[in-house]
Amino acid sequence: MSYAIKAEGLVKKYGDFVALDGVDLEVPAGKVIGVLGPNGAGKTTTVRILSTLLRPDAGHATVGGHDVVRDQVRVRGLIGLTGQYASVDEELSGAENLVLLGRLLDLSRRDAKARAVELLEQFELTEAAQRPISTFSGGMRRRLDLAASLVGRPQVLYLDEPTTGLDPHARKEVWSVVRRLVADGATVLLTTQYLEEADQLADSITVFDRGRVVAEGRPDELKRRVGGQTLQVRPTVARDLDTVSGILAELTGAAPQHDADNGLLTVPVDDPMLISALVRRLDGAGITADELGLRLPSLDEVFLALTGKTAEKAA
Ligand SMILES: Nc1ncnc2c1ncn2[C@@H]1O[C@H](COP(=O)(O)OP(=O)(O)OP(=O)(O)O)[C@@H](O)[C@H]1O
Ligand SMILES: [Mg+2]
Repeated sequence: MSYAIKAEGLVKKYGDFVALDGVDLEVPAGKVIGVLGPNGAGKTTTVRILSTLLRPDAGHATVGGHDVVRDQVRVRGLIGLTGQYASVDEELSGAENLVLLGRLLDLSRRDAKARAVELLEQFELTEAAQRPISTFSGGMRRRLDLAASLVGRPQVLYLDEPTTGLDPHARKEVWSVVRRLVADGATVLLTTQYLEEADQLADSITVFDRGRVVAEGRPDELKRRVGGQTLQVRPTVARDLDTVSGILAELTGAAPQHDADNGLLTVPVDDPMLISALVRRLDGAGITADELGLRLPSLDEVFLALTGKTAEKAA
């Protein structure tokens, strides 16, 4: 398999503090890898090493087969980076920023301009293109930042929390841009605090905690690994809740949770066959349900099980 990104044993220390403690990472070309982890886990540090901005103290990494320390120039020619904190010039307009970047990447004035126009259109920034960035909303800034990282048509794109602070609409826009880039053959490494984002976009997920990789796999694999499934039932009639809860407790030996917002009773199960027993019991009691089914744990539950933190708390 050809890997766009391959890292082995990356270590980074700040004084005595070990920020990365032997990180391995393999990203096949054309795939999206989601890097998750609580604050301080080492996500940005890894992105900075893979984009040649920081030297590892041990281990090595290649991007497109080029070493991130020895072949920095080659690596830089392949990558685009949208940092966790915006990296555009506030005083300049959106269009000026993009043209400037194009010029820095050695495009002719004309090509730089054409590329800027194209990207501004793609990110729905054409109307605001002549205004200084300092007048942009948070969502517009993030979009411009993303556009800026695409000026050089990178083969490998690092997105460090690309949608933090965006509203749901702007977030979905960013997602569709990422999907388009991947359809065009780009490889994407995405860090995010939004597990739904990783679930939506990533082919595989790597979970970091305290400078180490604590789990990796496809989203559904991780969910399975963390184990168990959840049985959920919503009785049609609210007054049946207690009876159904009692039946669930009896069948599973666990106390069901009741979510007052959506009327759902949920209980962890390890035997999927329980569902037919439940259906028979409900039928026998003359109780109907609007919703009844098994689901894998959510990625939030996976994250909690792996790191001991909820994604919200970690954010
Ligand atoms: N320049 C630095 N000097 C000292 N410590 C640093 C430096 N940069 C990062 N660290 C520490 O290294 C650890 C990893 O930081 P990093 O930014 O990689 O985490 P992260 O996973 O990106 O977190 P977040 O979710 O908050 O963005 C943190 O404990 C951080 O405080
Ligand atoms: Mg970070």
